[in-house]
Amino acid sequence: MSDVASFFRGRAVLVTGASSGIGAELARQLARHGARLAILARRRQNLEALASELRAASGATVLVVACDVSEPAAVAGAMARVERELGLPDVAILNAGIGESRKLEDFSVEWVRRIFETNLFGVLYFVEPLLGSMLARGAGTIAVTSSLARDRAMTQTGPYSASKAALSAVIESLRIDAWPRGVRLITIEPGFVKSPMTDRNAFPMPFMVSSERAAAIVLRGIAQGTPVIRFPWPMAVITYVLRMLPSRLFLWAGSRLSPKRDLKKPG
Ligand SMILES: NC(=O)c1ccc[n+]([C@@H]2O[C@H](COP(=O)([O-])OP(=O)(O)OC[C@H]3O[C@@H](n4cnc5c(N)ncnc54)[C@H](OP(=O)(O)O)[C@@H]3O)[C@@H](O)[C@H]2O)c1
Repeated sequence: MSDVASFFRGRAVLVTGASSGIGAELARQLARHGARLAILARRRQNLEALASELRAASGATVLVVACDVSEPAAVAGAMARVERELGLPDVAILNAGIGESRKLEDFSVEWVRRIFETNLFGVLYFVEPLLGSMLARGAGTIAVTSSLARDRAMTQTGPYSASKAALSAVIESLRIDAWPRGVRLITIEPGFVKSPMTDRNAFPMPFMVSSERAAAIVLRGIAQGTPVIRFPWPMAVITYVLRMLPSRLFLWAGSRLSPKRDLKKPG
């Protein structure tokens, strides 16, 4: 058995954003590793279909929880159900997120707020109760899906980058205090991953990896206790260098990309 499989075997794992893309693939691989799963998203039908697939393929224990992560009361209800029916998660992978590009003329505060409600608060509503319970137990892992986009804001996607930058910063700070007390807070920062989210993009997406590859990298990183899982490495290097560029140079380079980036259809 691989180290990854032996880490997850028999463990209770919560995956949010499991109805498609990276989250669904995380659930598939976790089921193969023998984890007991709670899968959460808004689209119940997708979750039910995935649960049936996993039960048939590997006899996995799968709890389906339909929930909008941007609703604090719904998250509280979902967490209570997970703890009642599966137990306190040993590992929570808080992966639900949205991305939406907008033209300059369509900028609005409502757009920023909506993205933050899912990508930042929709993660932190889970972190608060999980952190309390895991600290009391002195063990547990909370992994959140941020993005390499947190390194630098590109054209038309400022609120997405801002939400992920804020998430990475909050988790970075919590990690310092929680890690020595046995609770691992892990930040996942992927580059481009093929999924329904990126299928909408018309612009070039260098070094894109499949959801299967992304999920395998994430699960290996969690099992090894990697504090920040950044991949693929060429894109991680590029965004790191972009972060170091002086603002004037970044403005010059960014404005060259600006007219070429657009969505095929609204997200
Ligand atoms: N694909 C990439 O290139 C890439 C790169 C970096 C980071 N990421 C991050 O990776 C995560 C997964 O994205 P993906 O690429 O797999 O895209 P995806 O296929 O669109 O998956 C997004 C997931 O989040 C769920 N979700 C969205 N809003 C929700 C809400 N309010 N309540 C509950 N669930 C919600 C969706 O489920 P429902 O619609 O059923 O609710 C879906 O399961 C996101 O956090 C994304 O920002 C993706």
